[in-house]
Amino acid sequence: MNNEQKFSSVLTLAVADHEVMASAIENSRNILAGGSLTDIVCEAGTLKELTRTKLAPHFKMEEEHIFPALLQQQTDTQTTRLVADLIEDHRRILEKAKLLDKIPMLAVAGGSSLDTVKMIVRDLIDTLQNHATREDGLLLALLEKQRQSLIAPS
Ligand SMILES: [Fe+2]
Ligand SMILES: [Fe+2]
Repeated sequence: MNNEQKFSSVLTLAVADHEVMASAIENSRNILAGGSLTDIVCEAGTLKELTRTKLAPHFKMEEEHIFPALLQQQTDTQTTRLVADLIEDHRRILEKAKLLDKIPMLAVAGGSSLDTVKMIVRDLIDTLQNHATREDGLLLALLEKQRQSLIAPS
């Protein structure tokens, strides 16, 4: 497997990760809309696990492989800013995900805890969805470019 094929695999993997994230976000939204406090606490646990097993490695892969490759191809200010913003998003998402740890305690605290718990989950999935949507066009464009270069290497 040459470098272009490897990079193409990385991009395909990243797109597949985004599909997993989209389906997890949809699931969380359904639970937020109609689930009990217990359901939301369970969902927070699922999101915490997703962060550990999928989000954090995905962000690392983008920062180590995809973004540097993009910046090698495009050095304009717009792209440089976009990559900086996306990296900042990663940091913010991981910070927000840390709040999931507080959810079991909040759930037993009573009072307005249901609203607080919902707010933590909603804030995380909204930020993640915005981030993934910004990246989708970028990843797909890169993947297409990569496929073209594999079909007809210059
Ligand atoms: Fe990302
Ligand atoms: Fe991503």
